[in-house]
Amino acid sequence: MTRRDIDLGVARNVEAVAREPERRSEVSLRPTALGDFVGQRDLVGHLEIVLGSARSRGQVVDHLLFAGPPGLGKTSLATIVALEMGASLRITSGPVLTRPGDLAALLTDLHDGDVLFIDEIHRLNRSVEEVLYPAMEDRRLDVLIGRGPSARSIRLDLATFTLIGATTRTGLVAAPLRDRFGFVGQLDLYDVGELETIVERSASLLGIALEGDAAVRIATRSRGTPRIANRLLRRVRDFAAVNGFVTVSGSVAVEALELFGVDELGLDKVDRRILGLLCRQFRGQPVGLVTLSHASGEETATIEDAYEPYLLRAGLLTRTPRGRLATDLAYAHLGLRPPGGGLV
Ligand SMILES: Nc1ncnc2c1ncn2[C@@H]1O[C@H](COP(=O)(O)OP(=O)(O)O)[C@@H](O)[C@H]1O
Ligand SMILES: [Mg+2]
Repeated sequence: MTRRDIDLGVARNVEAVAREPERRSEVSLRPTALGDFVGQRDLVGHLEIVLGSARSRGQVVDHLLFAGPPGLGKTSLATIVALEMGASLRITSGPVLTRPGDLAALLTDLHDGDVLFIDEIHRLNRSVEEVLYPAMEDRRLDVLIGRGPSARSIRLDLATFTLIGATTRTGLVAAPLRDRFGFVGQLDLYDVGELETIVERSASLLGIALEGDAAVRIATRSRGTPRIANRLLRRVRDFAAVNGFVTVSGSVAVEALELFGVDELGLDKVDRRILGLLCRQFRGQPVGLVTLSHASGEETATIEDAYEPYLLRAGLLTRTPRGRLATDLAYAHLGLRPPGGGLV
C-alpha cells in the first residue's frame, strides 16, 4: 500500500483527515508498523494474534473496532493493519456518509482484501448503519431499485473486506453494530514513559535535537495523548528556532510550553476553564454535564471525550451520580482553598 492508496477514497469522504491542521507532518509521524507503535501493549499483543492468524489462513482480518479518546492512535492502528496485511485502505467517516447510497457506493467499489476505515462510526445515521449490518455479516448489499409499487430489491455480493471502525467511546456504538465486530480494542491514555518514547521518536523524525530532560518535560504536559505530545514538540521547536536555540534543553521546553499556556500538568485553557467553573462558580456543588457544557461553551461530547478522561485520570475531577466535582487537588492547582476544607 502506498500513501496514494491511503489518500484515495472519494474525495469528499476524506474530509475528516483533511481537517487535521498539521496533517502533512502528522502523517510522517504516524507509526507505520505494529513494532513502531508505542504503548497499548495488551491491544497490540491481541492485534498481532488476530493479524497473524488471518495471514496464516490466507484470509482477511475480522472486522475491528477501536475505541478511545481523540489522538490516542486509532487512525494510526487502522493504517498499520492495512499496511501489515498488504491491503488498500479506504478512509471515510460517520458524519460524511449521510445517505445509505453514499455507503453503498463505497462498499460496491471495494476489492477482495481491502480495508474500509470508518472514523467516528458512532455518528453514522440509522439508515446508513442498517446498510452495514448485512455487509459486515454476509458481505451482501440489498439495494432498492425504483420507487413505489414497481420498486424491487436486488441483492449484491460484496468483496471480502475488513471494516475498521473508530469511536471515542464503545458505549456510543449501537449494540447490533458493536456485536458485528470480531474484535474491539480499547485504547487508554499513555503514561509519561511511553509519551517520552514517542516525543523522542518524533524529535528524531523531525530533526529536533532534544537534550537533558526536554523529552520528559514535554511528555509530562501531554495529557496522556500522543497527538498532543507531537503538537507540543512542534511548538517547542518553533520557540527554540525563533529564539536561536540550536538544541532544546528541559528549561527551554518548559519556557516554551508556559508561553503557549500549557501548565505543569499539561492543562490548557479549556481544562482550566472547566475546573475554574467547578471550583469558583459552582463552588463544590455537583454540576451536570449539560450545565457544564453551557457554562464552558464546549459541546457535551467534547467535554466527555476530550477533556474529562485526562482530568479524571489526573485526579482533578470526579464523577458522582449527581454531577461532576472538582477534587481538592484541582483547588490546589488553581491556588484556591477547597470549600469547607482546610483552615483559614
Ligand atoms: N502509539 C503511538 N506511537 C507513536 N505515535 C503515536 C501513537 N499513537 C498516536 N501517535 C501519534 O499521534 C498522532 C495521532 O494519532 P491518531 O492515530 O490520528 O489518533 P486518533 O485516530 O485516535 O485520534 C499520530 O499521527 C501519531 O503521530
Ligand atoms: Mg483519528
